[in-house]
Amino acid sequence: AVDISALLKSTGLVTLDTGFVNTASTQSSITYIDGDEGILRYRGYPIEQLAEASTFLEVAYLLIYGELPDAQRLTDFTAAIDRHRELDEGVKQLLATAPAGAHPMAVLQAAISALAAFHLDTLDPRDAEQRGQASIILLAKVPAIVAAVARHAAGEPVLDPDPSSDYVVDFLRMTFGQDDVDPDVVKAMDMLLILHADHEQNCSTSTVRMVGSAHASIYASVSAGVGALSGPLHGGANEAVLEMLADIQSSGGDASDFMTKVKNKEDGVRLMGFGHRVYKNYDPRAAIVKKAAHDVLDKLGKQDEMLDIAMGLEEIALQDEYFISRKLYPNVDFYTGLIYKAMGFPTTMFTPLFSLGRLPGWIAQFAEMITDPATKIGRPRQVYTGATERDYVAVAER
Ligand code: ACO
Repeated sequence: AVDISALLKSTGLVTLDTGFVNTASTQSSITYIDGDEGILRYRGYPIEQLAEASTFLEVAYLLIYGELPDAQRLTDFTAAIDRHRELDEGVKQLLATAPAGAHPMAVLQAAISALAAFHLDTLDPRDAEQRGQASIILLAKVPAIVAAVARHAAGEPVLDPDPSSDYVVDFLRMTFGQDDVDPDVVKAMDMLLILHADHEQNCSTSTVRMVGSAHASIYASVSAGVGALSGPLHGGANEAVLEMLADIQSSGGDASDFMTKVKNKEDGVRLMGFGHRVYKNYDPRAAIVKKAAHDVLDKLGKQDEMLDIAMGLEEIALQDEYFISRKLYPNVDFYTGLIYKAMGFPTTMFTPLFSLGRLPGWIAQFAEMITDPATKIGRPRQVYTGATERDYVAVAER
């Protein structure tokens, strides 16, 4: 086999691949995607089977440790998480300082970053024990942080976790302040978290790996991932989809005007929740979420005109040459927001929910990166296009 990096080094050749369209940044054995066939597997297990039958914590274990846990391992893993579910007082105080109107993603990122200040003996990512402990701390505390961010943003008192209660049930209780959590909502939430749990080298995961490649703590790396995820071209798309649907609804519900704008690329407007760098076929997660959206809205008795608008947009897109020729299909974010809305989450909480779901993936990818002997600090090259050498001119003479 040709050692491409040695070859490039010896010839001094640099490849330019803006946005890493064709450049692999790593080898990985965690998640497999076939974008042409619409296939997604975690550690070999089809996403459809995991979404149907597994739980979020079991999937977290699978992603991080590589195998499904037996009953004892799952019990031990859950118990280890339960021991850390309480939030440090200082983190709670920090969350309370967020000004009204702050976006929950900004507060979430700050709180995750702050965990490094409260867990000083878990900061060395090369130490397997410290890294393992930090991973458990993140999995344990992020639900309480996300719930606290939601409560604070809504002007409601923050609720403490109940470590004796189920992970997802307790997250919903802390968020909505109601003890009787609907089992259908729990099942749907668990499934949505599973669907978001990993997606190989996407923007936020690549960010987590990049930051970690400098041996920064897992807290610093994951908080950087949260920052990447907040962008509307990435995790922020779920929020943008609902805003788009609301705009179409408020202007009478006719999607064709909007679609004309998209196709003419007026003001750079895009059909949010459509298109994907890797999937050039239906995103398998979107297929699951679309069906779940119908089921959950039916069960909760919350019919939503926006679901009809979304389906109308998809129907137009699937028959339109613009979308067909560019292979643009709904991605995972197209229908998720409608479920979150039916559950009672405000739009600004959609991307924090995505962050909670993606957490196991970030942790697993971080561990794979830091334990891989082939890992080097991430440091892309560039093709310089600036000025050639010129002499400095004093300000008075410019
Ligand atoms: N609406 C309209 N046109 C689109 C869309 C869209 N949603 N997505 C891509 N296109 C067009 C582009 O304008 C481009 O057209 P051109 O060939 O005439 O220039 C072509 O399709 C290819 O698009 P790129 O931007 O080159 O594709 P890229 O792989 O860089 O981007 C991305 C992928 C960012 C997901 C893009 O499809 C997009 O912006 N989608 C909307 C935002 C979104 O839903 N993001 C969530 C992604 S999934 C996730 O992070 C969970």
